[in-house]
Order: sequence, then structure tokens, then C-alpha cells
Amino acid sequence: MSYNDIIKNKKFIYTLQSIDRLEQDRQFCKHGLSHLFDVARTAYIISLENNINIAKDIIYAAALLHDIGRAEEYEKGTSHSEAGAKIAACILNDCGYTDEEIKLITQAILFHREDSGKNSLGSIIYAADKLTRPCFACVAAKDCKWSSDKKNLTMRY
Ligand SMILES: [Fe+2]
Ligand SMILES: [Fe+2]
Repeated sequence: MSYNDIIKNKKFIYTLQSIDRLEQDRQFCKHGLSHLFDVARTAYIISLENNINIAKDIIYAAALLHDIGRAEEYEKGTSHSEAGAKIAACILNDCGYTDEEIKLITQAILFHREDSGKNSLGSIIYAADKLTRPCFACVAAKDCKWSSDKKNLTMRY
């Protein structure tokens, strides 16, 4: 298993294309490949800086898949965390991740919109998701529903 299997996975590629298409006219932050790799690299740096012992293939898998439920949210109104955890489980299984790894990663996806506790996979994905957003240069700031304390106004990584 490797996160490089995820980026070659047909379901991953297809779903990401749907998200790109559905977000074409979105004025707020988008959820394409560059956001996913921003989150992956940042989460990995956070793990290294804080001596959090989680394998790179686990961190990258969680980051690459954390917003995979976005298409279903736009199309059916399902929360993207819940939809994403289900889609991610299929992709991870296809990519040879073990049941235990799939459980860990899908839990992190399910709770990536709240801080789920110190040094967990979910908490570093949550932190990286926020820290990578260039809110200081946002053209849609006045319409963004993020509260001012959530907005990222400096770049740490
Ligand atoms: Fe998200
Ligand atoms: Fe995200």
C-alpha cells in the first residue's frame, strides 16, 4: 500500500474530476489536488515537528481523501465527511490498506472538521486543512462563512 496507489486509483481520479467540475464557478476555497497535497505535506511536517509517529502513507492517504466526499455533498447534500469516509474506505481497500489502517484513516476523515484531540491523525489533518488556506489573500472574504478566529491570516508552512 502507498499513497501513490491512491493518486492512480480510478475512483479517486474520477471523483476528483467531478469535484473540479462542480467547483468550477465556486468563489471560495476549492478542493482539488493542490489543496489535498498542501494538506498532506503540511500534516506530514506537523507530525515530524511534534514527533507524532504516524506513517507517511497513512498521513498522505488521510489528506488526499479527506475531501473526497465533496461531490456527493454538492449533488445530494450529504455531509462531505460522512460521504468521504465511505468512498475513502473503498479506495483504501482497493489500494491494499489493511482494515486497521482503513479504520484509522476513515475516522480522521469523519472528524476532519473538528479538532479531535492532541496528536491524533484527525487533529493534524484538521490543523493542516486550516493552516494551508490563504485567507489573508481571499477575494471572497466578505462572503466566507468561516469565523474570523478560524481564518488563516499568516503562513506557518
Ligand atoms: Fe473538508
Ligand atoms: Fe480540506
